[in-house]
Amino acid sequence: EAKHRSLLLRAHREIAEWFHLLLMKHKIAAPARDYLKSRGISSQVAKNWQMGYAPGNSAFFREWASQARIPESVLVEAGLFVQADEDSGRRGTYPRFRDRLMFPIRNDHGDVIAFSGRVLDPNAKTAKYLNSPETPLFSKSKVLFGFDRSKRAISKAGEAIVCEGQIDMIMVYEAGFQNVVAGQGTAFTELHAKLLKRVCNEVVLCYDSDNAGYKAAERAFEILSPIGLTVKVAALPQGEDPDSLLRKQGTEALQTVLGGATDFLEYQIRRLRASAKSDSMVERVRMAEQVASAISIFSGVAQRITAVNKVAKLLEISEEQLTAMVNRAAKEAK
Ligand code: CTP
Ligand code: MN
Ligand code: MN
Ligand code: MN
Ligand code: MN
Repeated sequence: EAKHRSLLLRAHREIAEWFHLLLMKHKIAAPARDYLKSRGISSQVAKNWQMGYAPGNSAFFREWASQARIPESVLVEAGLFVQADEDSGRRGTYPRFRDRLMFPIRNDHGDVIAFSGRVLDPNAKTAKYLNSPETPLFSKSKVLFGFDRSKRAISKAGEAIVCEGQIDMIMVYEAGFQNVVAGQGTAFTELHAKLLKRVCNEVVLCYDSDNAGYKAAERAFEILSPIGLTVKVAALPQGEDPDSLLRKQGTEALQTVLGGATDFLEYQIRRLRASAKSDSMVERVRMAEQVASAISIFSGVAQRITAVNKVAKLLEISEEQLTAMVNRAAKEAK
């Protein structure tokens, strides 16, 4: 078992090195290098994160693996090669990641345990990002991207900046905000929250300023808050993500956005207000109903009372009325 695990780890390590070498040096990766340049990712940054290039040519990958003495069965178990589906017309196995920019995903010890690959060709009809499947080494609900590098800074700051994806995490880190991590695309899980809670008490969500990002922030609040983490939200300008903001407006703009991060409830009220038809009593009560369900997530009495006081003031409704809404929301959630 232990021997088996070490075979899988070795395969990941060697493949990450090979992908990286291809990206930095090989002629087939010239378009990938152009892509990095077009996104303002320097070769130093590519090196820091061991970014790589997964070739489009299966035979090339297979030949390298055989020279590196990595058996096909290991490649399949690692999820790097997939078994062709009978009716697809293909036979045998083929590489999961083809012609993609690769990001190694590491465990706490810094071992490569999986990959995420971004498509290079904007016209390709496949998913923009593809991740390794669940394997004996990798479970996406348990791993935070970049945490092996940022854990100390998070602990020191007492606060974790959480982004949506790999590129955001990397660019935020490289801009000097080292207390940053990313989920694995999919929703934040309770395990992710627990990993963070071990090293800090506060999370600043720095998600894309689009509908998917707002929804993700709400879900993250519902996961993080019951674990005892204070959740703040850094509101990026409409349509931006941390990477695009850094590209367009630089480090100071991001610094300002992070510095202006507000408590989740305040953020939620601001968003509800921005989309409300008016600021009438009826509308404010309607908004309060929604915020009440967020407040009902808090388990501590003190936390709830503080939140009720604050939200009642912001929405100019009575504390009694809001408390009743929170209690009702708490019952409904059960
Ligand atoms: N993601 C995914 N599968 C997709 C799209 C996204 O797993 N088809 C994950 C990736 O981890 C990605 C994150 O969700 O980093 C956020 O998605 P998105 O905002 O679309 O990607 P960006 O990180 O902004 O990527 P890019 O800037 O390269 O477009
Ligand atoms: Mn371990
Ligand atoms: Mn997004
Ligand atoms: Mn994005
Ligand atoms: Mn982006």
